[in-house]
Amino acid sequence: MKVVLLALLTALAARAAAVTFNRQIAPILFQNCAACHRPGEAAPFPLLTYHDARQHASQILAVTRRGYMPPWPPAPGYGDFAGTRRLSAEQVRLIAAWVEGGAPEGDAADLPPAPKFTDGWQLGAPDLVVPMPRSYQLAAGGADVFRNFVIPVHLEETRYIRAVELRPGNQKIVHHANIVVDRTRSLRRRDGRDGQPGFPGMDVTTESGAEFDPDSHFLFWKPGSVAQPEPDDMAWRLDPGTDLILNMHLQPSGKPESLQPKIGLYFASRAPTRFPMLLQLEHDGALEIPPGARDFSVSDHLTLPVAVNVLAIYPHAHYLGHRVEAWATLPDGRRRWLIKIDDWDINWQAVYNYREPVALPKGTQVAMRITYDNSTLNPRNPNHPPKLVRNGNRSEDEMGHVWLQVLPAKASAEDPRLLLQEAVMRRRLEKYPGDFVAQYSLGALLAFRGRQREAIPYFEAALRSQPSSATARNGLAAALLADDRLDEAIRELRHTLQLDPEYDNARYNLARALTAQGDAAGAVEQYRAYLKRQPEDAAAHLNLGRLYVAQKRYDEALPQMQIAARLKPDDADLQTDLGALLAMKGDLPAAIAAFEHALRIDPSHKVARANLNRARAH
Ligand code: HEC
Repeated sequence: MKVVLLALLTALAARAAAVTFNRQIAPILFQNCAACHRPGEAAPFPLLTYHDARQHASQILAVTRRGYMPPWPPAPGYGDFAGTRRLSAEQVRLIAAWVEGGAPEGDAADLPPAPKFTDGWQLGAPDLVVPMPRSYQLAAGGADVFRNFVIPVHLEETRYIRAVELRPGNQKIVHHANIVVDRTRSLRRRDGRDGQPGFPGMDVTTESGAEFDPDSHFLFWKPGSVAQPEPDDMAWRLDPGTDLILNMHLQPSGKPESLQPKIGLYFASRAPTRFPMLLQLEHDGALEIPPGARDFSVSDHLTLPVAVNVLAIYPHAHYLGHRVEAWATLPDGRRRWLIKIDDWDINWQAVYNYREPVALPKGTQVAMRITYDNSTLNPRNPNHPPKLVRNGNRSEDEMGHVWLQVLPAKASAEDPRLLLQEAVMRRRLEKYPGDFVAQYSLGALLAFRGRQREAIPYFEAALRSQPSSATARNGLAAALLADDRLDEAIRELRHTLQLDPEYDNARYNLARALTAQGDAAGAVEQYRAYLKRQPEDAAAHLNLGRLYVAQKRYDEALPQMQIAARLKPDDADLQTDLGALLAMKGDLPAAIAAFEHALRIDPSHKVARANLNRARAH
């Protein structure tokens, strides 16, 4: 009797606890798997119905138990990321119980509604859609293709971008994509040289312009990911004449494929007031991985000169990368992990956004270490047998980067990004003594901050490693000019213009230097040559006009002043100069009008007031 009762109770308990697809499993799969496991997405089969799940039940058990699915490489406890895809221990246990219990379907009434997905643009209709100009043809087979496409943006005016979305057009061959902003159109000339749109390469770098404006956002896309819009006050600037570079990883599908992606841009309503910045930890110069090495590593660190909030992290290595670690050592010695990936797989690379920004005080040291496996035990090793691998942007080369997106705190009147950039470049010089980019950037940063004299030795050092750099020579000359070393400045500027006769800024600097030296005729000649190429530069017209005035060539001065005043209608000094010139030429009514105009712009303008009184007294 007792035994029978016990058996009955056990059977009842088992029935109550039976895990069914409809009750416990469907919600897990819908929430954690269906985004990728549905038609048109990256995963090889859908997981939307009982039938789908039942067919793959034992595989599902295996991959969830191993933690292989859902894919989420960061180790738990080493950084708290938004959108973390990881099953709880309870969910893994439920899946196991379901599969081991024969994968029953259960009561239809328990089944939750199927998840809904949006087709097309995930963020709604973009404000501007920029298509790739021509389509790219991907061969049926062969190795993966890493290619960069140049996509010009046609804008009438500067816009601020709060989100970027990619429609790849041919999703199944696009593994992932990065969008790089090429403000100086430096990559155009490489486009299409092999007859197809774009140019090869796993990674790209653009040349930055003279202006300091670090790219500050990760523009990363992979199937199943939805762009995360930035808050309006953190949008990024997009100027007319900018190219977007679409850096793509393509996978042949077995038949020839055509690819023509579209980029959707979403505008913010206003210019940003908060400026994040990307910091790169790397030591590619030390990458020299011997064949067979199982734990070769590179590391880097940077001490933060200002407090920052870390918003996101993006580790990057190629196929030999094995472990990625990044952490922060706080000024009090405590360590805070930023990320740890124990089994790096380039196929799952991603940008990870922190759920809450990670606040790091000034003086914190951020550090990274990337470990590589160049043995035959690494199933992803592209070389059979393994060979010596160095850094490079082909897929068979290696890289080791950890990028941090940080929002620096403002501590002084200075833009904290300048201080961060200076720290990055000083660190770079430690890693690569004599490095051109570091020397030049340090010079340019100091000059930008008005410390011209301190900039001079950096420009000189940059020129020792790259004497043919017109940019560095012009930087040196501008610093010499600001320091009143006129003869040297003029010599360097003439040399710069020999290196690059179309270097407009160098010509402008030469005109200024000749003016300062008292060579008016020489300066006039340079300004005229400059204005042929830069006819909209009000300051150059004004300077040329003043030179003519000094030489009493009033007829030639007047049109220059007039053009300058038209280009800069709100400049009281300019109107005052123009009035004085008109008075000198005897046109008193026009002179009075110009002085009055100046006083409307700036009622406290003393010279304009005095001149107006004098002109009226005539
Ligand atoms: C971010 C997209 C994504 C998510 C989310 C995802 N998968 Fe996958 N899954 C893939 C891709 C891509 C593959 C094929 C590549 C591979 O096997 O590595 C795959 C493969 C699989 C496989 C086959 C593995 C093998 O060994 O062939 C199973 C089973 C699987 N997923 C189950 C799941 C389950 C269960 C979930 C949810 C708990 C899930 N996946 C969530 C993208 C995803």
